[in-house]
Amino acid sequence: MEKNRRSWAEPYKIKMVEPVHISTHKERQKAIKGAGYNTFLLRSSEVYIDLLTDSGTSAMSDRQWAGLMLGDEAYAGSNNFYRLEDSVRKNYGYKYLVPTHQGRAAEHIISQLLIKEGDYIPGNMYFTTTKLHQELAGGTFVDVIIDEAHDPANEHPFKANVDLNKLEDLIHDKGAENIPYVAISTTVNMAGGQPISLSNLKQVRELTQKHGIKIIHDMTRVAENAYFIKEREPGYENHSIGDIVMEICSLTDGATMSAKKDALVNIGGFLAVNDEELFDRARNMVVIYEGLHTYGGMAGRDMEALAVGIQESVQYDHIRARVGQVQYLGKKLINMNVPIVKPVGSHGIFLDAKKILPHLTQDQLPAQSLAAAIYLDSGVRAMERGVVSAGRNPETGENNYPKLELVRLTIPRRVYTQAHMDVVAESVEAVVANAADISGLKFVYEPEYLRFFQSRFEPLG
Ligand SMILES: Cc1ncc(COP(=O)(O)O)c(C=O)c1O
Repeated sequence: MEKNRRSWAEPYKIKMVEPVHISTHKERQKAIKGAGYNTFLLRSSEVYIDLLTDSGTSAMSDRQWAGLMLGDEAYAGSNNFYRLEDSVRKNYGYKYLVPTHQGRAAEHIISQLLIKEGDYIPGNMYFTTTKLHQELAGGTFVDVIIDEAHDPANEHPFKANVDLNKLEDLIHDKGAENIPYVAISTTVNMAGGQPISLSNLKQVRELTQKHGIKIIHDMTRVAENAYFIKEREPGYENHSIGDIVMEICSLTDGATMSAKKDALVNIGGFLAVNDEELFDRARNMVVIYEGLHTYGGMAGRDMEALAVGIQESVQYDHIRARVGQVQYLGKKLINMNVPIVKPVGSHGIFLDAKKILPHLTQDQLPAQSLAAAIYLDSGVRAMERGVVSAGRNPETGENNYPKLELVRLTIPRRVYTQAHMDVVAESVEAVVANAADISGLKFVYEPEYLRFFQSRFEPLG
């Protein structure tokens, strides 16, 4: 037998199950029409396998559930806050913690504190809520990710790397005084869950330090990024996931965290910083929008579950199985010749809707149409990551046209089995085989902000 060819299995066993409904085609037809062809507007009871998001959908461990019973629901100074602070310091190394109810609340606070009107915020690709908070604070996001990230077929091992020339040009053009920080995401969601390498991050650190620019880290999936570094970056093969995570964090000045992903909780997040003065301002601001600085929108029990979840998230066996399941589905789809973003990322499979539906223009919303077609086929719920998610240019009101027009099949952590993955792959294969029959969609309702969540659509004639 070849080395490394032994099978691995999930490092847990199942002790409680949640039955799911396997719907009929007729039920799904009614449901998707009722949802305005937007998978965000389906009821979860109408879904068989829910791959809408990996956000807040993980299964907690028995230790985390036990932690809920240790909830100290004091308004101020809860024991669970101090345990969470300790877990953040031990596992991520950041000095000061401001809990928030989820990631976007931390993005709001840091954007308001650091960005002034007319500033530019370079980043390794945008994320929907992050970019919106930067804009609401008066800033403009500038994409400085390497070009390879915009090409779904390019197999660069670190597609989240920053193009240092793009960053340097921006600093030169706009002036360091108008760039409060560089936003670095581990991994990059919109690029397909792709990692940044430590060597690239070190170079970004060197360049920004020279100009006195901070790095703010979107650490939502930092353990997943660390797993890819261990697998792919020379010199890190023998490092633990925990050590790699610490090294990533040590190269940044602060972080926003949606704990609903990597950290294995159903709700929660935080802002973490190293600068005491910035911490003071953040801690003052969190009381306006979230709650007192020792709970910031989370119950004591939720902070306890998060403190435990952070420790579990950096365990090698856990992260190998988590990313391994995503790779399993990816490999199956590649073998079926389904065009997907490569290399396969850490939290989901991203189908290349432009390639699958070449008969549709981007204005005919190919990714939105493909997500609706997959739901109709099997009750598998995916989501659009294309022109609908990219929204409109706030100045011109025109649609933004991203190069990537993708459907995301996002895998919740510790929830589904490999058999579920087989069902998903077979459904996607069947839909792709009949892709020529899929017609486009048009907007019939579009809200002002983050339109992908609530828009409604109708099939084109
Ligand atoms: C990379 C990234 N950053 C930020 C967020 C926002 O976090 P939340 O949904 O907890 O507000 C998300 C969640 O979808 C994300 O994937």
